[in-house]
Amino acid sequence: MIHMIVAINSTRTIGHHDTMPFHNPEDLAHFKAKTLNHVCVMGRVTYESIPVKLSNRMIWVLTSQLDYEPKHDNVIVFNDESQLLDAVLSYQSDIFICGGLQIYRLFFPYVSVLWLSHIADEFDGDVKLDRFEDHMTLVNSVQYNTFMCEEYHR
Ligand SMILES: NC(=O)c1ccc[n+]([C@@H]2O[C@H](COP(=O)([O-])OP(=O)(O)OC[C@H]3O[C@@H](n4cnc5c(N)ncnc54)[C@H](OP(=O)(O)O)[C@@H]3O)[C@@H](O)[C@H]2O)c1
Repeated sequence: MIHMIVAINSTRTIGHHDTMPFHNPEDLAHFKAKTLNHVCVMGRVTYESIPVKLSNRMIWVLTSQLDYEPKHDNVIVFNDESQLLDAVLSYQSDIFICGGLQIYRLFFPYVSVLWLSHIADEFDGDVKLDRFEDHMTLVNSVQYNTFMCEEYHR
């Protein structure tokens, strides 16, 4: 099943200057719990914005740079969007679309489950999420101490 996982704030900001605009350890723990032992698909900008190795996960990174050398040994580089799409669609287990916006837009038509975290923060950044959830059905909502997570199904 293809999942999409993303955190937004009250302005629907997801990024600013190629980094995460907010720091919420509880949501990061939620991201880890959801994605652990699964494949994470991300754009090169998002991959480079993550300061640590995402261990116990395989990372599939999309870039147009043919000579791109990832920093970690758990990364597979894709240069061709259709090859990555074929790999995602034929993958036989849960797989997570982890952003950023370019990658969310590319894969949203194939996503079955959306995990949307709402962070209590008002910063107005330069990358804002499309209203993907308007095309899905809300099936669950969990209030954590510092954020709220909605689960949508197509
Ligand atoms: N809040 C959240 O949950 C969350 C999650 C993830 C990311 N983010 C934030 O989102 C922002 C990044 O989003 P973004 O949309 O700017 O970047 P992105 O989707 O992470 O990566 C974009 C890059 O992917 C590659 N790419 C995209 N389409 C391609 C194609 N068809 N063929 C080959 N390569 C392709 C290109 O890499 P090259 O330039 O190397 O060719 C492109 O520059 C950051 O601020 C990040 O922190 C937030």
